[in-house]
Amino acid sequence: MQIDIKNSAGNLTSNQLKYLLNLKQTAELKELFKTAYQLRINNLDREIYLRGIIEFSNICSKDCYYCGIRKSNQKINRFKMSKTEILESAGWIYKNNYASIVLQSGERNDPEFINFVNDLIKEIKNLSNNKLGITLSLGEQDKKTYQKWFELGAHRYLLRIESSNQKLYENIHPVSHSFKKRLNCLNILREIGYQVGTGVMIGLPGQTIEDLANDLLFFKEIDVDMVGMGPYVIHKQTPLAKKIVDEKILKVRNFDLALKMIAALRILIPDINIAATTALDALSPDGKKRGLKAGANIIMPVITHPNYRKDYQLYENKELIGVSAADEFKKFDLSKELNAKIGYNKWGDSPHYFKRNSN
Ligand code: 5AD
Repeated sequence: MQIDIKNSAGNLTSNQLKYLLNLKQTAELKELFKTAYQLRINNLDREIYLRGIIEFSNICSKDCYYCGIRKSNQKINRFKMSKTEILESAGWIYKNNYASIVLQSGERNDPEFINFVNDLIKEIKNLSNNKLGITLSLGEQDKKTYQKWFELGAHRYLLRIESSNQKLYENIHPVSHSFKKRLNCLNILREIGYQVGTGVMIGLPGQTIEDLANDLLFFKEIDVDMVGMGPYVIHKQTPLAKKIVDEKILKVRNFDLALKMIAALRILIPDINIAATTALDALSPDGKKRGLKAGANIIMPVITHPNYRKDYQLYENKELIGVSAADEFKKFDLSKELNAKIGYNKWGDSPHYFKRNSN
């Protein structure tokens, strides 16, 4: 290894990041993942935190070129879970001691939707004696709405920048979707007081290693508390899929790149929360486990009822099988294989967040 990664924690240049993302040799990759994994243990303990995610509707006003639930995809069945169904799932998450819930859906900005979310936040807080931590992943909203949801008790917000390269962002979205607006939303969320998470897709057509290194530096620059990033995965009913020449090569390449991104990020910002995202599992049966081994510390089990999952296909092969969330850990033994345990009943905020707020 040309870089002394063990002594680089918190401090990698763009060239060093590119070098890490270009690694191919097995021995060097092993060293990279091992260093990242060790940094996770040193900075965040042995605990893996859970966020039960409910994907409550695929109705979307956006038309992103990569996403299976984009507005123009007329081949899918649009659904909206009822409040009762969502609260039932939230109750399950609470009873199973996950401590944290993520509400995600297609993006909508109409008053009916906003009021629906207002009610959900209130009722989830109620049913859990205020204990369940609520993370929202509901896209771009105006300041008033973000503020209202925060006041009602949501404390984290996930909004991926998708790519920090504005040109690339514009290539994968229609002109009506604004990079500047997305950035501005991230700023507003931080101003309001949310713990802010962002992320990117890895291996997009036209994306270079330099872009990815810049994505990592972007996370550092905006001082995020959490990152969820995953491989770009094809969805055939989308315009971006047409740009892919060899799907097999793409899958292998993007999976490997995603693991390297996780490890490089853990070295660059050792004390943030990094999710082993669902998209990893779409490309490899033990994808999430390998994400954890590469330095991630968060898992977001999908709690969405199996009846709806087939309609929430942002990309292909997204956990179609009706596994219950509990089955997630039957695939591997966390303590044996990862020397880790689940942090039940804890919100699991990142030390990074606490440090920033104690200054
Ligand atoms: N491949 C990988 N990730 C995707 N997302 C949407 N479509 C895809 C795809 N084809 C991700 C986006 C979005 C998140 C909810 O899902 O990054 O922010």
